[in-house]
Parts: sequence; C-alpha cells; structure tokens
Amino acid sequence: MGPIEILSLEEIRKSRPSKYFGLEGDVISLGLAESDFEMPKEVKEAMINAIINGRYHYEMNGNAEFIEAARDKLHRVNNVPVEDEEVLPTVGVMNAIWLTYKVLLKPGEHVIVVTPTYPALIGRPKSFQAEVTEVKTRRDGHLDIERIQEAVTSKTKMITICNPNNPSGTVYTRDELERLAEIAVKHDLYVFSDELYENLTYDGRKHVSIASLPDMYERTVTAFGFTKTYGMSGLRIGYVVAEKKIIRLMRDENTGIVIHPGTVEQIGAAAALRKCDYYINFLRNYLEGVRNRLIAELNEIPGIVAQPPEGSFFAFPDLSLLFEKDEDAVKHLLKEAKVMVYGGSGFGDGGQGRVRINFCSPLEIVEKAAVRIRNALAKRYAETIGKK
Ligand SMILES: Cc1ncc(COP(=O)(O)O)c(C=O)c1O
Repeated sequence: MGPIEILSLEEIRKSRPSKYFGLEGDVISLGLAESDFEMPKEVKEAMINAIINGRYHYEMNGNAEFIEAARDKLHRVNNVPVEDEEVLPTVGVMNAIWLTYKVLLKPGEHVIVVTPTYPALIGRPKSFQAEVTEVKTRRDGHLDIERIQEAVTSKTKMITICNPNNPSGTVYTRDELERLAEIAVKHDLYVFSDELYENLTYDGRKHVSIASLPDMYERTVTAFGFTKTYGMSGLRIGYVVAEKKIIRLMRDENTGIVIHPGTVEQIGAAAALRKCDYYINFLRNYLEGVRNRLIAELNEIPGIVAQPPEGSFFAFPDLSLLFEKDEDAVKHLLKEAKVMVYGGSGFGDGGQGRVRINFCSPLEIVEKAAVRIRNALAKRYAETIGKK
C-alpha cells in the first residue's frame, strides 16, 4: 500500500491483542480505537538509534528534540504561536486529560462537555469533585451553540470539546469555533480541546485549532497525540499545550506520578512530527477511500442513512430503527456479522442508538466487514420492520 506498510488480518490479530481480546478466529474487530497500520519507519529508526546511542535517561524538562519539533509543528500547522515552555510531553493524551482537569478544576466547579465524546473527557472531572453538564451536539454532529450558552452558570469553569470528534467524526468549522470562543471570552471560561485526530479530515476540510483564534490562546488547553494516526498506541506519548503557568502546574503534578513519558518515545515522536507528513497525507487519502466504501455499504441497508464522517476514523450510524438499545446492535453484529463494533451509549448523551465503527484498517478488511454488517442488518430489517 504505497508508503505505508500493511499487515494481513492474521498479523493484525496477533499484534493487536487488546483489539482482538476474547474474539473468536473469524471475527473482524472494528471496535477499539486503534490503527491497523504499521507506524512510520522513521519513528522506528529514531527509537532504535536512540537506544543504540544511549538516549534513554531522565530528561526532566522534556526531550528538547521533541519539544522543538512540537513547537515548530504548532506554528506551521496549527497556527498557534507557542514557546517551548508552553509544551509538556505527556504519557498519551489520556495523561493530558487527567492533568488538565486536575490543575484547572476545584471541587464544586462545573465543566460543560460537548457529547458524544471520548468517555474520559466526560468521566474524569468527577475524580476532582467537579460536576459535568453534557451538552449534545446537533444531529449533524456540529456544536449546538445556543444550548452551550444556556448551560453556562456562575459555577462553569470550562468547556470541553473533541475536534475532530471521536466518535462522530465531526470536524468543527472556524465559524462555529469562533462562536464557541465568544461564549468562552464572555463568561471567562477555559476551553479544553482534545485534538488527537487533527490529521484526519476528509473532503478537503481543514482542521482549525481553537487556540489559534483571537483571544483564545490564554484560555485554551489543547491535547495532541500520536497513538491514532501514527499507529503508535502502545508507545504512550502525546503533548499538552497551554500558557506557561498552567504547564508549570501540570509538570509538577506529572513529576509526582510518572515523572515524564519515555525519552525514547519522545525521540520517536519528534521524528513523526519532523519527517512523516508524507505518512499522514497518504493515510488521510487512503482512509477517505475506505470511509467511502464503508458508508456506501451502510447506505445499502434499508431504513439506514449513514452520513460520511468529516474526520477521525469512525462511522457512527444510527441503528435505533432496528434495535431498541445500541448494546443489542453490538451483540447482534458480533453474533450475526462476526464484526466487533462499540455501542454509542458509552460516548455520552447523543450516542444512544448508534454504533461506532473504526475504519482505520486495510480496505479489504473493512470491505469484508462492511458487507457482513450490511447483510446482517438487511436481514434484521426484513425480519422486523419489513414484516410489519
Ligand atoms: C479523543 C481521544 N482522546 C484521548 C484518547 C487516549 O489517547 P492516548 O492513547 O494518546 O492516551 C483517545 C483514545 O481513543 C481518544 O479517542
């Protein structure tokens, strides 16, 4: 597959144990949010060389190569004018989520979380005795600005978004981010933006970082990572970007839990940022084709209208016509189609009745799974709605 090495289904099953945990031999997993593509060879080489050259010691202020590469990429791609002291390497985006809520929230404060979204973004504030108000997106996955505005109270401290969105794939436009920014400025709120899927936007859409908008840098915390688009999930590396005083607090917190992410991983991540634009460009184009095949199959199912996701690597069709609960849809697809997908309810309000289908896999594998899903759901339609 051009510049990206791909594995057979057999090899994928062996090398991605969590994605295939407990699944029988003929099941295809489009569940866990993991890439089925090999990570870039430049990252592998950089990490191997780091080990050979003895670059595996503590680096208390972060690895300089990584921080500089992240800073340059933030200037070049995100249009966010950060300084080095405003970038903190983290143990994946998950670590950045924990740190953000930990340093910005006091007990009793409120967070507005736009849902559906990645579960940790909804669940983690509770660890710090903060309250979460979920605000559903519109049906098309875009921000419901009026509802967000109405949800703000005197206790609201921040608004959390995931852009591009996991699970809906929505890529927020500059216009709607500007309207969100107006609310943040007006009520003096922080915005926490999880931009792990920033590289995957389709049909020519451009990812906009809310931190790049006027008056937003000082009130935005942005989390970036590598685990999805570069296929590096087990390396546990990411970075968080915010004002210096916030980063200082985060660094102090992290020193007490993990000290810092691995030096070798930071060197690998620097290579991803410096040398691998070809990889993400290729992957984006390739996945757009996979998405189109999957959506075409889903739209063959009677009664189902599946919108092509704008970004990320998930389809998120509404199956509520065919199943009372999304958990039932998941069970049905596992049994009848031998395909593992995730239920939408796990992603908060707005996810109910939907299933999330991860299409970051070779075309033949997704195609095979999509045909099985189409057949199983067309049969379900015939046996339920079609009979009435
Ligand atoms: C939106 C989002 N944020 C964070 C994470 C966790 O990422 P990481 O592996 O970088 O910790 C995920 C993983 O699925 C995710 O989808």
